[in-house]
Amino acid sequence: MKIGICADHAGFELKRQLVDYLQRKGYEVRDFGTDSTQSMDYPDVAHPLADAVVARQVDCGIALCGTGNGMAMSLNHHRGIRAGLAWNKAIAELVKAHNDANVLVMPARFISPAMARLIIRTWLGTAFEGGRHQRRIDKIEPGR
Ligand code: RB5
Repeated sequence: MKIGICADHAGFELKRQLVDYLQRKGYEVRDFGTDSTQSMDYPDVAHPLADAVVARQVDCGIALCGTGNGMAMSLNHHRGIRAGLAWNKAIAELVKAHNDANVLVMPARFISPAMARLIIRTWLGTAFEGGRHQRRIDKIEPGR
């Protein structure tokens, strides 16, 4: 499984740790940056990650910024992207089971690395429930 990952400066350090964690778990990781703690604009890495998910160059994505909101807002402008914010285990489960999020967004300034790893494990290990939730996600993008 190939996972794309991106972060702004606020998420850089957590991204570095998570890339290492995911690779140790056997995942192939494509890192879309940023590559330092120098201040940068989150859409500059969110859009390339979204393009790669939509083009199926990666199976899913993980995005980190301070609150997670800037990443989620940028990613969700792309047709075919369902970027969902999760900050604990219960929400990580629901964002896959109910929303089938294909990009997991986390608030790097508000969670510990251990929580981030738990959220990722939970999201990757949870199945989409389909049924009424499929009907609902089908209605997210107008005209689709
Ligand atoms: C950066 O200071 C911060 O604004 C950014 O990481 C993110 O939280 C935006 O949504």
